[in-house]
Amino acid sequence: MKILYYQIAVMKKRKTLICSLSLTVFMLVTVKFISAQTLPQLGKNSNKEVIAAMTLEEKAKLVVGNGFRMPGQRPNGPTIGQIQDKVPGAAGTTYAIPRLGIPSIVVADGPAGVRIQPIRNNDSSKTYYATAFPVATLLASTWDTALVKKVGVAFGSEVHEYGIDILLAPALNIHRNPLGGRNFEYYSEDPLIAGKMTAAMVNGIESNGVGTSIKHYAANNQESNRNTVNTIVSERALREIYLKGFEIAVKHSQPWTVMSSYNKVNGTYTSEEYDLQTTILRKEWGFKGFVMTDWFGGKNPVEQMKAGNDLLMPGTPQQSQRIIDAVNHDSLDVKVLDENVNRILNIILQSPSFKNYNYSDKPDLKKDADVSREAAEEGMVLLKNDHTLPLTKQKKVALFGNTSYDIIAGGTGSGDVNKAYTISLLQGLANNGYVADDEVRQQYSAYLADYKTKHPKKNFFEEFMNPTPPAPEFEANNDLIAKKADEADVAIYTIGRNAGEGRDRKLETDYYLSDAEKLLIKNIADAFHAKNKKLVVVLNIGGVIDVTSWRDNADAILLAWQPGLEAGNAIANVLNGKVDPSGKLATTFPMDYKDVSSAKNFPGKEYPEQATGSGFGRQVPAEVTYEEGIYVGYRYYNTFNVAPAYEFGYGLSYTSFDYSNLKLSSSSFNNKITATITIKNTGKVAGKEAVQVYISAPSKNLDKPSEELKAFAKTKLLQPGESQTVSFDIDAADLSSFDTNRESWVAEVGTYSIKVGASSKNIKQTASFDLAKEIVTEKDNKVLVPQTEINELKPQKKAF
Ligand code: BGC
Repeated sequence: MKILYYQIAVMKKRKTLICSLSLTVFMLVTVKFISAQTLPQLGKNSNKEVIAAMTLEEKAKLVVGNGFRMPGQRPNGPTIGQIQDKVPGAAGTTYAIPRLGIPSIVVADGPAGVRIQPIRNNDSSKTYYATAFPVATLLASTWDTALVKKVGVAFGSEVHEYGIDILLAPALNIHRNPLGGRNFEYYSEDPLIAGKMTAAMVNGIESNGVGTSIKHYAANNQESNRNTVNTIVSERALREIYLKGFEIAVKHSQPWTVMSSYNKVNGTYTSEEYDLQTTILRKEWGFKGFVMTDWFGGKNPVEQMKAGNDLLMPGTPQQSQRIIDAVNHDSLDVKVLDENVNRILNIILQSPSFKNYNYSDKPDLKKDADVSREAAEEGMVLLKNDHTLPLTKQKKVALFGNTSYDIIAGGTGSGDVNKAYTISLLQGLANNGYVADDEVRQQYSAYLADYKTKHPKKNFFEEFMNPTPPAPEFEANNDLIAKKADEADVAIYTIGRNAGEGRDRKLETDYYLSDAEKLLIKNIADAFHAKNKKLVVVLNIGGVIDVTSWRDNADAILLAWQPGLEAGNAIANVLNGKVDPSGKLATTFPMDYKDVSSAKNFPGKEYPEQATGSGFGRQVPAEVTYEEGIYVGYRYYNTFNVAPAYEFGYGLSYTSFDYSNLKLSSSSFNNKITATITIKNTGKVAGKEAVQVYISAPSKNLDKPSEELKAFAKTKLLQPGESQTVSFDIDAADLSSFDTNRESWVAEVGTYSIKVGASSKNIKQTASFDLAKEIVTEKDNKVLVPQTEINELKPQKKAF
C-alpha cells in the first residue's frame, strides 16, 4: 500500500514538474517571441529606437573595435581583445549586437591592394591572394583620374568578394619631405592631385557597395615619433596644403569613413581634436560618415568620443570601460556617445555584412592584374632619353642591379599586399622577346639566394621592429661588365628602394646611392659607352632619391616606381615602346636634399629625457615645426628660384605634343572662366599628354606661390597628327587663398595668369584675365591655431 501511495505521489510530483517545466518553456518562448517582436532591429526600426534599446555597455563596445592580432599571424596567435576571424589577416572588426540586428563589420588594409592572410589553416589548396596595384605615387603620376577610378573599381571588387566591409585606404598625406617613410602610400606634394586622386579611388572602390577610410587625417607627414609628434603648423598651411586634399576628397566622393592620424596638430592628438573631426570635417565640409582612429592612435577615449572620432581601433576592453565610467560619472554626456553610435550604425546599414552579402572569396584576379598592369604602364615617368628608348632593335640585355631580379612591387607595413606573384624585370623582359644574359643572371641569383638564406623571413612583428636590411648592391666585377659590353646590345641597371610605416628613410644609402651603386653605374656606363652601347637605368622606388650624382652616366632613365604585381611586364612594355610613357611627376626630384624646403625641419626635435615606457611601448615626445609654411614642393622651388633636378609635372614621351590656341571664355572674371587649349601629337607614335593648368595670382595682401596647379587632364591616346581640345573650368575658389586674419578664403583684385603647360616649368601657353572686385569665397572658423609663433618662410625673406 505504502508502495502504491508512494507511486501515486511520485506520479503527481512528476506531473507537477512536467506542468511547471512546460509552463517555463512556454513562458520563455513567449518572452523571446515578444522581445523579438518588440526589440528594435537595425534597418527595420529607426537608429534612434535601436540606440534607445542598447545598454551603456553595448554602446561602449560598439564604439571600440574587437581587438587586434598582428598581421600575418595565425588565428591562434596572440590577440588584444576579442578579435573575430571572419576574414583572417584583416586589420579589425566591430562589435556585433545580434539581439538588435547589428552585425560586426570587417575592415582591412591597405592602399595598394587588399591585405589579408593568403593561406588559411595551412591549406594551400584554396588561397586568398589579392592584386598588388601600383603604389599611390605611381597612380598620381598617371594624372588620369578616370584610370585611377578604374583601379578603384577593380580594387573594390576584391574588397567585396573577400567579405570585407571597409578598406583602410586610400591614403593621401602630402609628400612634405622625400624621406617620409610612407610617401609611397601617398600621392603627391600637391593637394589638388592628392584630393582628386583620392576622390577617384574612393568613387571606384565604393561603386562596389563597400566603404573606404581616407587616411591619415591630418598633417601626418613623417613616421619618426609618429605616435607622439606634435606638428606645429600655421592655419594657412594647414588649410591650403595639409587639409585641402581631404576637403576635395570629402566633397567629391563622400567616403564612408575617415581615419584620424597618430600625431598631434598644434598641441592636440588629431583623434581628440573636436575642431578637426567636427568643426572642419563635418560642419565646414559636410562629411556624413564616421571617423575611426589609426591603430591605437590617441590617448583619451572620452576626448575622442567628444571630438567626433566615433570608433576606436583596433579597440581594447579598457577603452570601453573608460567610456562607461565617464558616462556614469557625468564626464561624457550619453547624447554624445549616442551620436557616435548613430554614425557607426549609419555606415553598418550600408555594409555588405549587414546585407548578408554572399561573398565568393574568388575575385577575378586575372582581370584585376590587367588593370594593375595598365595603370603601372601609364604612371611610369621617362626622366631622361638620349635617343635610347624604346629598345626596338637591341634584344640581348645585360641586366644589372639586385632589384632587376628581385623587383619591389610595393612598400612594406600595412601598405604591403599578399599577392600571388610578382613579375620580375627578368621575367618581364623574357615575356617580351628580350634575352637577358645568363651569366649575369646566374651571378645575381646566387648572390641574392645566399643573402636570403642568411636572412630568413621574419614574421610581420619582428620585421616591423627590426627590418631586414636590403641586400647590399651586388658588386659585379669589371671583367664581367667588360665581357658583357662586348656581348650584349644594351645594359639595364635597376636601382631599388623600399620603405614603410614606422620609420622614415635615411639619407645615406637610401636617398643617396651607396658607393657600390654609384661605382657600378659608372663602370657599366664606361664599359658600354666604350662600345658605343647604351645604359638604361630603371628606378624601382617608392619615393624620391638623388639623381644628380649619377644621371649623366645614364642614357635613359625610366622611373618605374613600385608598379604592383605585374611590374616586369609593365616596365618591358614601356621599354619596348608598346606603350608610350605618359606619366609625369607629381612630386619634385630636387638637385640635392638640402634644397628641400623642410630639410632643416625634418623630422623635428625629440625630447628623449621625457620618454615614457620601454621596448615597443617606448614613446619619445617630439615636435616638428612646418616653417616652410605653404612653400612645399614646386610651390617652393618655383617661387624661390631653386632649380630642381626634375620638376613637378615633368615627364618625357616617345612622341611630342604641340599646345595651341589657348582661349579664355572671358577676359574678366565673373564666377567662372573656361580655358580651352588644343593639344596635337606632332611626333611619330601614338601617345597621351598630361596637360596642366597653373594660375599665378596677384599678391597685394597675401603672399602667393609663383604658380599653383588648379586643374589637369590627360588626353586620350592621340595618334600621330591627331589633336584634342581640352577645357578647364576655373571658379572663384581656384583664385582664392586663406587669409588667416580674416579666417576667409579671398580672391584678390588684379590680373591673373593662366599658364597651361607640360610641367610646372614648361609652360606652353599663357593668357590672363582680370578680377575687378575682391571675392570672399568662404568664411571659416578660427580653429587649430598654433600656440607658438612660427617663423614662417615668406617670399620676401631669404630662402634657406
Ligand atoms: C597604420 C594604418 C593601418 C592600420 C591598420 C596602422 O599602423 O598606420 O595605416 O590602416 O595600422 O593596419
